[in-house]
Amino acid sequence: MTTDATKTEVGSYFISNYPPFSQWSLDALPEVRSAMQTPPLPGYDNLGHAINKPNDLGLYLHIPFCRKRCKFCYFRVYTEKNAHEVEDYVAALSTEIELVSKLPVMGERPFRFVYFGGGTPSFLSAKQLTSLVDRLRANINWDHAEEVTFECEPGTLSEPKVHTIKELGVTRISLGVENLDDKVLSENGRAHLSPEILKSWKWITDAGFYNTNIDLISGMVGETWENWRENIRKTIDMSPDSVTIYQMELPFNTVYSQDILGNKIETPVADWPTKRAWLDYAFDEFQSAGYSVSSAYTVVKDKSKVNFSYRDNLWRGSDLLATGVASFGHVSGVHYQNQPDWKSYVEPLSKGELPLGRAMRPTPHQLLIREMILQLKTGRLNAEYFRNKFAAEIIDHWRDTWNEYQNDGLIEISGDQISLTRAGLMRADALLPPFFETDHQGVRYT
Ligand SMILES: C[S@@+](CC[C@H](N)C(=O)[O-])C[C@H]1O[C@@H](n2cnc3c(N)ncnc32)[C@H](O)[C@@H]1O
Ligand code: SF4
Repeated sequence: MTTDATKTEVGSYFISNYPPFSQWSLDALPEVRSAMQTPPLPGYDNLGHAINKPNDLGLYLHIPFCRKRCKFCYFRVYTEKNAHEVEDYVAALSTEIELVSKLPVMGERPFRFVYFGGGTPSFLSAKQLTSLVDRLRANINWDHAEEVTFECEPGTLSEPKVHTIKELGVTRISLGVENLDDKVLSENGRAHLSPEILKSWKWITDAGFYNTNIDLISGMVGETWENWRENIRKTIDMSPDSVTIYQMELPFNTVYSQDILGNKIETPVADWPTKRAWLDYAFDEFQSAGYSVSSAYTVVKDKSKVNFSYRDNLWRGSDLLATGVASFGHVSGVHYQNQPDWKSYVEPLSKGELPLGRAMRPTPHQLLIREMILQLKTGRLNAEYFRNKFAAEIIDHWRDTWNEYQNDGLIEISGDQISLTRAGLMRADALLPPFFETDHQGVRYT
């Protein structure tokens, strides 16, 4: 029997930033414009000491196309655009990169990490990809980036396309497998079935990417214990360098959420204790197969080889130039998001203007909270880092919350080190809102 508190209700969300997106506004756009027109600020080392070097910089490119909208997906995606419109988008993105590359905030900084995200970057044909990258390379390069990630949906790949992706300099290829059972895949509206997963995985492993990742979701509609065990067994057989396992969320804008609200039906998604038990089982199985747990969502095969440059640098406050419709970025202490709709994104670019949509300059205390909650998702925090970077004693400041979590067996504290226990890791996102400022408790997140 589930209680209301344990059901996967509409309105759950994945915490990826702070303050909540609902607090960003048009009024703060002058802040981000001015940050972009100013040279970069100095950065910090891994222990939070200021260093005499500009802050690290990353680039995010949003490719918002998909073959089909999955019923659980909350991203800004388009499924009906024709080849001509895709070409218009690629041209707009190239213009945006050209404008961004000339901003004073770029300084002479190389990109430390680059992320082709979506939507589905692999939706683009090999020809469209090559043409996009040729246009981008006229203004920027990622030759010195330590990580270049590219997200793929299995059914969009072909062997030649996988080679094209490799030739673009991609070091980390991420395949959205989600589940290996055809009934579950089709029930959830995925555009691919298991034969496409296995075919594309062979092309990927044959191509020899430095780092291969598989995404899975715990709690797809129709999931059972028996099927989940099979998923984990088959994923271990595929032997990826890392696996990312999300617990199914139901933000307001998914097809399932609309169905639940509109037709007043019970949520079809397993409850939180079940999704956590599936994740816990998966972590145990991966550990038995030699993997290590690297965050609340990820396991890695070889800790000494795989680092998560995008995740770790972003969560330590590096700059991220966001390009593409609805993308989120952060420069010199200011958050911003691009225009969230096709027309409002493309039009300013056709006039040579950046398509900025909303922004927020967090206070230093809000930046501290942001880094603390994001880094907690890795399963560990070092209080010394926050002492050096923010002159803050995070253990003392949030003493009551830590005590409560400690008493509940969710964290352990030893000196300056705070670590999530396995029970804490399983519910990492639920542990974060108590650290929000009072004004942000209970406000809508997006
Ligand atoms: C941009 S997609 C990855 C690339 C490609 N679009 C695909 O789906 O294969 C990013 C990932 O978000 C996850 N995701 C999407 N909607 C989700 C939800 N409602 N709850 C949990 N994870 C979700 C999926 O695991 C998906 O692979
Ligand atoms: S999960 Fe991936 S393929 Fe499905 S709609 Fe979302 S972005 Fe597209």
